[in-house]
This record gives sequence, structure tokens and C-alpha cells, in this order.
Amino acid sequence: MDRPLRIAVLASGRGSNLAALLRACVADELHARVIGVWSDRPSAPALDLARVQNIPAQSLRPRDFIDREAFDRALFADIDAALPDLIVCAGFMRILSAAVVAAHSQQMINIHPSLLPRHPGLDTHSRAIAAGDSDHGASVHFMIPALDAGPVIAQTPIAIRADDNPQSLAERLLPAEHELLVATVALFTRHRLGHTDGRVLIDGQPLAAPLQMIDDQLQPASPILASSDDR
Ligand code: GRF
Repeated sequence: MDRPLRIAVLASGRGSNLAALLRACVADELHARVIGVWSDRPSAPALDLARVQNIPAQSLRPRDFIDREAFDRALFADIDAALPDLIVCAGFMRILSAAVVAAHSQQMINIHPSLLPRHPGLDTHSRAIAAGDSDHGASVHFMIPALDAGPVIAQTPIAIRADDNPQSLAERLLPAEHELLVATVALFTRHRLGHTDGRVLIDGQPLAAPLQMIDDQLQPASPILASSDDR
């Protein structure tokens, strides 16, 4: 069996997605281990979640650096020194500069609370309701040097109810988001994912559409693979 996948997590806040990854690693649901957590906010609760499990956790303050590039260089020098196989942005609320994203493009993913390409950016739950969407969800995507815009690997949809407000929608989505992240990371532990030319590759073949979380499983949308006409 391969060695466990080494995961670095970037988080700015609460860390519930980090907690879901940690639980799955401990339960052996993921053949992986979180090797470190990095934050741009010293007070991020996510850091404490790591520390109680003796996982190295550190924060760098953006205001201590001359510009975004300098902050990102320092952050990623540290992350790279830990030799991660996968870097998971789980509620990391800073835009990363193009150079660090490009240098890690096959190994860096983000979880975003919307069905991308709908609603990139902030306030996704209220924007989905305001737009009159009938469904909402979360997406895990490879990162590229543009906000919430990389190739989408997998999504989990939920219906928007007539009486939903942004808070109720966020609360209902969160457990689904955690399952989506763990199931997607499981594909990385089996070395099944990559991307090229804006398309996700699974087992080396381009995916026609993001995988969908259905009945607690990631399933391919049909048709599974892109036809040669869409490539
Ligand atoms: C999640 O909704 C995630 O999708 C978004 O920020 C939130 C972070 O939550 N990017 P948590 O810190 O993981 O609890």
C-alpha cells in the first residue's frame, strides 16, 4: 500500500472542513494525514483544532509583509518545506498570487460553497437565494490564478426551500460540504485526479462534467468522459 497522502490545510476561520478531514484520517476513512495547518489569522479556531492533535499549526500575518507576493512566498516556502502531496484551501479567505498557484496547480484544491460557475466569491448563500436559484451546493475545484475559477472536480447539490434564509441554507449545506471534501480527497489518495487545459482528468481521461455527490457517493454525471468533440 502507498504511504498516507500528506495534506497541508490552509484555513482562516472556524475549521469545520479541517475537522472533517481530521476525523476521516483518524477513522481511516482517508489514507492520509494532515501534516500541518497554515492560516493568515493567528486567532483562527482552525489552528487550535490542529494543535490539540499535535499537528503543527502556524499563522503568518499579511501586515508583516510588504505585499501579497512576499506574504505568499513566505507562506509557501513553509508549506513546501513540509512536503505536502495535496494542499487544501478550506475556508482560506485570501486571494493567492498567480505565482504560487501556478507552481502548485496539480496539487492545490479549494472548497467553495456554491455550484460553480454560479456565485464565485463571498456571500454565496444569500446570492443563491436572491438569484431565485432552485438549487445550491458546494464545489471542490483545482486552483488556478483566478478566484474560484479552476476546473471543478466534484459538487454536492441541495435544494433551496421556499422558507430558506442564508443561515438555514448554510447550515444545511455544511455537512454535505464536509462529505464532498472528504470524498474528493479520497480520490487524491488513490492518485486518480489531475487537470489539463481547463479540464479535470480522472484516471487520465477528461471528465465531461463535475462528479456529483449522490447517496453519499461521488458519482460521474453522464456521459462520464468528455467526447472528443468537446475537447
Ligand atoms: C466553508 O463554507 C467553505 O466552503 C468556505 O468557507 C467556509 C469555511 O468553513 N470556503 P470552515 O472554516 O471550514 O468551517
